[in-house]
Amino acid sequence: MNFNYMKQTTQNSSSPGEDNLKIAVQKSGRLFEGSMQLLKECGIEISNGNNPVRPGHPVGQLRVQSPNFPIEVFFLRDDDIPEYVQDAVADIGFVGENVVREKNKKVETIEKLGFGKCRLSIAVPKNGVLQSVNDLAGKKIATSYPVILTDYLEKKNISAEIHEISGSVEIAPRIGLADAICDLVSSGSTLFSNELKEIETILASEAVLIVDKKISPQKKFILDKLLFRIRSVKKAKNNKYVLLNAPNDRIGIICNLLPGMRSPTILPLAEPGWSSVHSVINEADFWNVIEQLKANGAQGILIIPIEKMIE
Ligand code: PRP
Ligand code: ZN
Repeated sequence: MNFNYMKQTTQNSSSPGEDNLKIAVQKSGRLFEGSMQLLKECGIEISNGNNPVRPGHPVGQLRVQSPNFPIEVFFLRDDDIPEYVQDAVADIGFVGENVVREKNKKVETIEKLGFGKCRLSIAVPKNGVLQSVNDLAGKKIATSYPVILTDYLEKKNISAEIHEISGSVEIAPRIGLADAICDLVSSGSTLFSNELKEIETILASEAVLIVDKKISPQKKFILDKLLFRIRSVKKAKNNKYVLLNAPNDRIGIICNLLPGMRSPTILPLAEPGWSSVHSVINEADFWNVIEQLKANGAQGILIIPIEKMIE
């Protein structure tokens, strides 16, 4: 642990830990594991009593102090996280965009976290008469997202009745409670097993980092350190390290395909006329670039995951 750093961030507080950054994360559910995994990849240890908090092992305590970073984790219900951050009970939170939009609290979203991807969709019985959102006029829609759904229906000029329920939304059509539902879809298996089909996506969502708008400068200092780590982890995930052998007369073309962090590293091979090229490649262009590399004579291409990427 960097003791000087800890001293610096807590020097003005009477009780140790007062100036810790307080982060709210989901206690259990779709974002719990991703949140714990991200903190771990940022080198931040979170222990649950004597046991480290690990994916698949839900936490017992609601409040846990990290032993190696000035951060304290509050484990809460995801629906409550925006309000706790707005009210400065927590300084920041990891939560789904769906919850942020629905709760509509005064918090700032500063970073997408790249996990917990899902969508909020309207779904109807698979073999029923409803086929599109225009068929929903005068119908009843069950949802836990009345705010987002109302907004959507108003924009589309559809007047339907919204029936708000807090859970098990997918069974509403089968028990005659509603004609359609508006709910989160991730793998789609809940819709499938309830014989429902999606007819419209109204929001694409993933986990985001939200921040109290009145965060203090001391806590902002810790937040910036955390953000730097989060961005390095995210960047590493979006990129791969690539190593290949190329004929010397093709090096120019191949380097243009591989810009790397600055420019590729080129080392001569023992075999005359050949070099080894090392670079970084973006996940999004991955297959496209690989095809072009091969077409330009690259051989022995190795793709290696990157753990952290710091520029
Ligand atoms: C959502 C939603 C569905 C399920 C869909 O609930 O209400 O039940 O996930 O996921 P699938 O497409 O992978 O089957 P969630 O887990 O977010 O629980 P919560 O509403 O209680 O927060
Ligand atoms: Zn929830």
